[in-house]
Amino acid sequence: MNNLQTLKTKIETISNNYKEETTGGFITGDGPIPSDIMFVGEAPGKSEVESGKPFVGVAGKNFEKYLNSIDIERKNIRITNTCFFRPIKIKTSKTGKTTISNRPPKISEVNLFKEILDEEISLTKPKIIITLGNVPLKRLTTFKAIGECHGTSIHSDEFNCTIFPMYHPSSLTYNRNDDFKKMYEEDWLKLKDTLQKVL
Ligand code: URA
Repeated sequence: MNNLQTLKTKIETISNNYKEETTGGFITGDGPIPSDIMFVGEAPGKSEVESGKPFVGVAGKNFEKYLNSIDIERKNIRITNTCFFRPIKIKTSKTGKTTISNRPPKISEVNLFKEILDEEISLTKPKIIITLGNVPLKRLTTFKAIGECHGTSIHSDEFNCTIFPMYHPSSLTYNRNDDFKKMYEEDWLKLKDTLQKVL
């Protein structure tokens, strides 16, 4: 079995053995290995589980648009998540209608996949890891919140590469104001500059 197949089997075993909450299926990372550039998101949603790939839903479309705007093609980079199953919450209304929605992964759920993400990073050998949102930020750095560090680069001794924290692409949906969008777009330009230095 090759390394990626082993990772997939481990993700499947961890997801299937997890009984504390109902989850909505799992996925693996996507893209070339090794790769100089690696993006790490939070956890997959419904569209990702359906297609088996990270960042293909609404947030993913936004993400790819900005990626292309700085001349990066998705097929040339590694994209993965911090939690590999879809964390869900199930609600039943008074009329008996059941709805399933995404929720952020709990710390214990992120920790289930600590070894998997570490292994994926070590196989990918990135020169830069871009964290998307608070979940991968807290997992891979000592920062406590994306607001204090987005758009800046730091060196990680642990992963032996640059880490560049960014807001999660879905934050554009929650922060529909021009100032936030401007700041978000400036972070992509800062990333473009950083890539020129790092690669
Ligand atoms: N959001 C994430 O953080 N990861 C995905 O794969 C999709 C949406």
